Amino acid sequence: MSEIGVLFVCLGNICRSPTAEAVFRARAAASPLARRLRVDSAGTGHWHVGKPPDPRARDAALRRGYDLSSLRARQVTADDFRRFDYLWAMDQDNLAVLQRMAPVGYAARAGLLLDVLPGRAGDSVPDPYYGGEAGFEHVLDLLESASDALLERLAEAHG
Ligand code: 4NP
Repeated sequence: MSEIGVLFVCLGNICRSPTAEAVFRARAAASPLARRLRVDSAGTGHWHVGKPPDPRARDAALRRGYDLSSLRARQVTADDFRRFDYLWAMDQDNLAVLQRMAPVGYAARAGLLLDVLPGRAGDSVPDPYYGGEAGFEHVLDLLESASDALLERLAEAHG
């Protein structure tokens, strides 16, 4: 049973990608793949390294039963391309950063998360940092749908 490494990547690693990590882990728990999955998140920026997720992201996630309290922000590294099979960027800017830092031969491991969601290819998970509470709910809606679609895709590829 080989491991399947999944890394979610946003800018700060305090809003979208830690939420994606917790949502995906929770929704994968009932999947036959669960025991093989290694799930983590990281940011392309360094500003929030070591910090817990944004309180607004934590509160919105907890209302849906996802606990982000143990997560701490870290910055993505080139070595993550060797450690994870899939690096899912929340938006095009972060995908571009990943593609620039990928070791030779590894760029194909990076993709845009919403490309897994039918009808949403090319779309971004919008950055909720400078907005209101509704933005965090929208992020959760997108990440719940994307997590389920990603699980289906992984089951097809690795099942
Ligand atoms: P995230 O949100 O990329 O979803 O974690 C952000 C967090 C912090 C900043 C921007 C976006 N910031 O500019 O500090």
